[in-house]
Amino acid sequence: MTTRVLTGITPSGTPHLGNYVGAIRPAIAASRAPDIESFFFLADLHSLIKSQDPQRTQRATLEIAASWLACGLDPEHVWFYRQSDIRETTELMWFLTAIASKGILNRAHAYKAAVDKNREEGQDEDAGVSAGLFMYPVLMAADILIFKANQVPVGRDQIQHIEMARDFAQRFNHVYGKEYFPLPDVVIDEQVATLAGLDGRKMSKSYHNTIPLFVPREELKKLVFSILTDSRAPGEPKDTEGSALFQMYQAFATPEQTAAFAKAFADGISWGDAKQQLFERIDSELSPLRERYNALMAEPEKIEALLKRRGQQLREQLAAPLLEELRHAVGLRDLSDAGDIASEDAGEARAAPPLFKQYREKDGRFYFKLTAGDGTLLIQSEGFDSPRDAGQLIAVLKQAEQGDQLQSDLFKLEAEVDAVLAALAVLRAD
Ligand code: TRP
Repeated sequence: MTTRVLTGITPSGTPHLGNYVGAIRPAIAASRAPDIESFFFLADLHSLIKSQDPQRTQRATLEIAASWLACGLDPEHVWFYRQSDIRETTELMWFLTAIASKGILNRAHAYKAAVDKNREEGQDEDAGVSAGLFMYPVLMAADILIFKANQVPVGRDQIQHIEMARDFAQRFNHVYGKEYFPLPDVVIDEQVATLAGLDGRKMSKSYHNTIPLFVPREELKKLVFSILTDSRAPGEPKDTEGSALFQMYQAFATPEQTAAFAKAFADGISWGDAKQQLFERIDSELSPLRERYNALMAEPEKIEALLKRRGQQLREQLAAPLLEELRHAVGLRDLSDAGDIASEDAGEARAAPPLFKQYREKDGRFYFKLTAGDGTLLIQSEGFDSPRDAGQLIAVLKQAEQGDQLQSDLFKLEAEVDAVLAALAVLRAD
C-alpha cells in the first residue's frame, strides 16, 4: 500500500531562503519518492487565528501557493489544495471536538505559552486568547485524518500536535468501535539545515535578518553583500566554521563546489570576492524559480483554477465519502428507520460508553448516577454535601473503569494470540 504523506503550509507571506533550504526544497524532493501519495495544502483556515485582515489572508495564500509551485511542486503528481476548499474538514473537526478531552488541549504549547505570559504579566489568564488558538490542534488533526494520512513531516514545534491527532483518532476509533482512522506518525528530518541569516543568527522573520526568496537579482546582490563577516583582510585565511556566508554557499552548492570554496577561504579570498561568488551561486539556482514565480503571480486565476480543481477531486474521491461514513458512525442518520431499534443498532447501542451524570436534588445535596449506553441505571449515588465530594468519587470510579477497559482489551488480545497459536499448530501438524 502506498504511504500517505501530508504537509500543511501556513500562508505567512513570502518565504525566505531559510524556508526554502529548510522546508520547501526538501519537501518537494521527498514528494518525488516512489510509493508515496503526497498531500500539500495551504492552511488558510489556520491563518485566520493569527490574522483577521481579509486582504492579507488572500494575498498570503496566493503568494505561498505561487512560491511552492515556482519551487517545483508538481500539482498533477501531488495533491495540492487549499484547506478551506475541503468543507468536510471543518465538519470532521466538530466530530473530533466532541470527543477530544479539554485537558489535553490545555496542555498545548502555544495555548499554554499565551496563558503563562498573561499570568506573568498579572493579566487574566485568557486575555487575548481566542478559542481558535485553543482549538488549533483539533483543526490540525482534522486536516490529517480527513485524508487518513500515515506520515506527517513537521518541525519540532509541531510534534505535540501530531501526538494529539493520534490521541483524537484513537479515541474516535474506540468510541465508535471501528478503525476509521490510521494513527498518523510524525516524521522529523534531523538532516534539515537551519540557515543563518544576515547577522549570523538563525534566519527568521522575527529577527529581521532574512533574504526573501524571490527578490530581484539586484536586491539579492545587495542583501548578500550585507551578510555580516569578521574583519579579516584579503589574503588572510578565513574560517569556514561558524561562517554564515560559507554555510549559505554550502546550501546551494555541490560538494565539489563547496570544497573549492573552502580552499578559497583557506587561501585568503577577500570577503568581497567570497560574497560575489555566493551571490552568483544562489542566483543561478533561484533565477529560474524567480521567473516562474513572477509568471504565476501575474496570472492568479490559473492558480485559483488549479486549487479549485484539485480540491474538488479530493472531496469527491476521498473527503465526501469518508464524511458520509462518519456521519453514519456518529449517529447523524436518516431518521426513517430510527424507530426500528432492534435492527442493526442493537450491538452498537450496547457499545456506547456508560455515562456519569451529576446533579443536585431538592434536598440541596449533590448526587450522581452512572447509566449504561442503552440508558440502564448502573449506579445511583447517595447524597453528598459538596459537588467536589461527588466528583472525587466519580474520578475514582472512572479510573477503575479505565482499568476494566484495559483488562478487557488485554483479554481480547490474549484470545487472538491463542487463536493464532492454535492455527499455527494446525498448520505445523499438516
Ligand atoms: N500547524 C502547522 C504549522 O504551523 C501547519 C499545519 C496545519 C499542518 N495543519 C496541518 C501541518 C496538518 C501538518 C499537518 O506549520
